[in-house]
Amino acid sequence: MKSYSAVVALAGLVSSVAAHGFISSPTPRQPGQGLKAACGDQVYNQQSSDHFGNVQGALQNLQGSQPDCRMWHCKGVPFSDAGEVFDYTPGQVIPMKVEIRAPHDGVANVSIVKVSSDTVIGQPLISWDQYALTSSPLSQHPDWTSFDIKMPDVSSECAKAGDCVIQWYWDAPKISQTYESCIDFKMGGGSGGSAPSPSASAAPASSAAPKPSSAAPATSATPTATVPAATPTPSKVEEVATPTASSGAGEGSTLPKSFTIDSFITWLRANAGSDTATKVSRAVAERAHPRAFRV
Ligand SMILES: *[C@@H]1O[C@H](CO)[C@@H](O)[C@H](O)[C@H]1NC(C)=O
Repeated sequence: MKSYSAVVALAGLVSSVAAHGFISSPTPRQPGQGLKAACGDQVYNQQSSDHFGNVQGALQNLQGSQPDCRMWHCKGVPFSDAGEVFDYTPGQVIPMKVEIRAPHDGVANVSIVKVSSDTVIGQPLISWDQYALTSSPLSQHPDWTSFDIKMPDVSSECAKAGDCVIQWYWDAPKISQTYESCIDFKMGGGSGGSAPSPSASAAPASSAAPKPSSAAPATSATPTATVPAATPTPSKVEEVATPTASSGAGEGSTLPKSFTIDSFITWLRANAGSDTATKVSRAVAERAHPRAFRV
């Protein structure tokens, strides 16, 4: 018998727990006046009180038109907010530390990003297919928060302060939350001053386009309800399916993560009444909309 785990989505059981993370070493770019100027007061206020938040949350704080705000690049914090600009050499091994305050299942990588075009140079320096899994204590995965990267030779692209950043990128697609934190550096190019000049950050206004892969916000956190097409009373189903905090099977319980149509109907009968259960049961039996359930 088939298991319709995705139906869980209709009950709104996908909790939107906020994850939290930021680079702690080497010293990353921190929100400052540059962020305020580019992305507005509200974005600045939120990030300066909690710089561990995610890009999507920051985007929600955007007010009005902020054409200079590049939220998908270092979470909007521009070069003018750079603190230290590190001098790195090709082949240099750099120990990095990340602080994950609240984990959530995702993927992550660290890459060198060319600021003017917001493009990654070469391959990621390190990447994880599974990162900050909620199911696994952080203490068992020291490599998620403490690791080495080895610098490639990017001296031709990254000679000047403000040309490039090392960007840590953590994406938790199930909750549509993406985390970014950047380290400023330069390579070769002689002894340049490390004080950021405002003009450097103002230049690349043309590349404000968000990263394609992560551009679509809030697509995965709340999959659209999967049953409505099959049931004559979708709103009622949604309403009654709103989860309670209790656990265990049967009446008043939340839906299990995985269940069959039969157990779903049983659950509906207990929680939504036989009327709704019968309607859903009929709709399923008739298979009027075979694709109404996403598997
Ligand atoms: C880093 O990971 C994200 C999320 O999987 C992905 O979209 C992006 O392409 C990766 N970056 C690189 C340089 O591979």
